[in-house]
Amino acid sequence: MAEIGTDIEKAATLLSQGELVAIPTETVYGLAGNALNVEAVAKIFSAKNRPQFDPLIVHVPSLALARNYVTAIPKKAERLAQLFWPGPLTLVLEKKDETIPALVTSGLKTVGFRSPDHPLTRKLLTALPFPVAAPSANPFGYVSPTTPQHVNEQLGDKISYILDGGVCTIGIESTIIGFEGNDPVVLRLGGLSLERIEAVTGNIKVHVHSTSNPLAPGQLKSHYAPGKSLKLGTLEELLQEYPAHTSGILSFKHDFHSPHQRILSPSGNPEEAARNLFQYLRDFDKMPVDVILAELLPDEGLGRAINDRLKRAAAVDNS
Ligand code: TXA
Ligand code: MG
Repeated sequence: MAEIGTDIEKAATLLSQGELVAIPTETVYGLAGNALNVEAVAKIFSAKNRPQFDPLIVHVPSLALARNYVTAIPKKAERLAQLFWPGPLTLVLEKKDETIPALVTSGLKTVGFRSPDHPLTRKLLTALPFPVAAPSANPFGYVSPTTPQHVNEQLGDKISYILDGGVCTIGIESTIIGFEGNDPVVLRLGGLSLERIEAVTGNIKVHVHSTSNPLAPGQLKSHYAPGKSLKLGTLEELLQEYPAHTSGILSFKHDFHSPHQRILSPSGNPEEAARNLFQYLRDFDKMPVDVILAELLPDEGLGRAINDRLKRAAAVDNS
């Protein structure tokens, strides 16, 4: 098992030596390595068992640092970074040659940058002389970790240190935006709502549902899968089909008075629901249930990003 602690210097030393450290962010925990060190990056792919066609997000303390690695920054990207960095937004920008290794970007000409909003990780990034590549700190295809314990349970034998920043305050991954010229395109729905983005950019394209050979593997249908089969629909109807005593129930706000239920947000708040989502999906893995029954949230705010993950989880057949 990995050591869990709040020693930023230790984390910085390990990263400088090419080792991996799990780091807290406001979205989910990341599995960090020196983005400029190909061997460190290779360790990330192998620890996660992640295919090399799935590029990593590079974490920087500010837009000023990202500038060193990109050819140009579209005006709208600049505006979005000014408004939402640090925060749950990844910007995919055109990469300058010979800077970020091709392994980080899976050979793409673009690179995803994010400036995470967590005090410990901001201190760490500011102290380091290199940017940090960090995918979510889970085995490939599983739900992302939102606590140090989640990381330890799944990757504890592959890394030596987990920087403890407590429970992630947003709880789902960053929203990813790419650019066609100056026009933003959403590549992954996430912790920054479409409404907040469109208030700045006007209407934008959402392009998150490619299937084979995806541009962003967050686009793979089966991503975010919990260990058990998840059925999506109207809970009342699903409960006629599946026996209540062997089913986990994941509701948005309604109480089904079942011992195997989780209510995402009794007050109907999608932000609270996002914060609870991955913990609750993990909880069902430990319950004596065969199947998870879940319902979609209203398609607005973070509800959209939650629904996206529920639909992907439902697309896998674990039965
Ligand atoms: O909130 C987050 O974004 C977390 C925390 C740790 O920062 N990170 C995260 O990383 O979710 P990961 O690797 O689990 O998901 C990154 C997604 C992948 O689906 C990848 O395909 C996409 O970002 N991505 C990275 N670089 C890209 C690029 N150049 N073009 C298109 N998609 C890219
Ligand atoms: Mg991930």
